[in-house]
Amino acid sequence: MLKIGSFIRSSSVIVAPMAGVTDQPFRNYCRQFGADWVVSEMVTSDARLWGTAKSAHRLRFNGEAEPRWVQIAGAEPAMMAIAAARNVDLGAQIIDINMGCPAKKVCRKAAGSALLRDETLVGLILQAVVRAVDVPVTLKIRLGWSREEMNAVKIARIAESCGVQLLTVHGRTRQCRFAGEVDYESIAKVKNSVAIPVIANGDITTPLCAERVLNITGADGVMIGRAVQGRPWLPGMIAHYLVTGELGSAPAAEVIRETMRGHIVALSDFYGEQTGVRVARKHVGWYLDAHHGYEAREFKNCFNQLESTRAQLTLIDDRFSPSRLAA
Ligand SMILES: Cc1cc2nc3c(=O)[nH]c(=O)nc-3n(C[C@H](O)[C@H](O)[C@H](O)COP(=O)(O)O)c2cc1C
Repeated sequence: MLKIGSFIRSSSVIVAPMAGVTDQPFRNYCRQFGADWVVSEMVTSDARLWGTAKSAHRLRFNGEAEPRWVQIAGAEPAMMAIAAARNVDLGAQIIDINMGCPAKKVCRKAAGSALLRDETLVGLILQAVVRAVDVPVTLKIRLGWSREEMNAVKIARIAESCGVQLLTVHGRTRQCRFAGEVDYESIAKVKNSVAIPVIANGDITTPLCAERVLNITGADGVMIGRAVQGRPWLPGMIAHYLVTGELGSAPAAEVIRETMRGHIVALSDFYGEQTGVRVARKHVGWYLDAHHGYEAREFKNCFNQLESTRAQLTLIDDRFSPSRLAA
């Protein structure tokens, strides 16, 4: 069970914000398969960029199921406050602040995980955002900038004192990027240092893995990122296991085929066909990677040449048909 503000759900499994992945169509699929908590891709706090097609799509959460949890990124307190308020006006119901992203584009502007090096600025940003909105504010961090500069406990205390209502910790430092083992013991230290809910993140891929991480960290929930790519059913499966102890199985191939078809159409509707077709290549690639035992390389090569939604659907129908799957 997890509670954020007035939102209470039996699930304590959160789909991680992932730029280029957790767009509205993907979030909707995660929810259809039972995910209760899904965070949007990060939206820049620089409103001058909101006119770009990329930001415009990221700022669309109308009609989406509650709670609409939107992540903002930036390094300037006043700008972050304005961005948070504007997102709430657009329908956001929880605001997450990105201090975990290692991307160069984000770090060059000293945003994302680079902020962890400036604790005073962290406090100013959090205070400004919490004051600016009347919805819960959450924060996502890494353990610190490097193994030598691990200050997650300190950041967690700052966050709590500023009124942040939930903290997610990716158990790596900025310097680790995505390499090396996730340090769950250090997430446990963060959990023990604050009273607000702490969510463990990093390399969680299965229901049993989630259970193990919860046992090690004592965290209040788990956040799942890359493992959800091509598996929008995974968060729901993990949540189901954590609540009931029952290990479900991945959907049947026919369900995966219908999901891919629906997803391709949803992407075309959301982005327009030209962009939708390109975004669909990435997701279909992930679905195929996740569907073990299926010979995907040649399929992907063909799929990636296609330039229309109709052609993509036809190839799925042809190559991912029940008779072929049974063969
Ligand atoms: C493609 C991609 C995009 C990401 N974008 C964001 C983002 O927009 N905001 C953020 O806080 N973290 C972002 N992350 C980090 C994830 O939210 C998560 O912390 C990280 O992937 C570790 O979790 P995992 O091991 O379950 O993938 C991104 C990760 C990936 C792989």
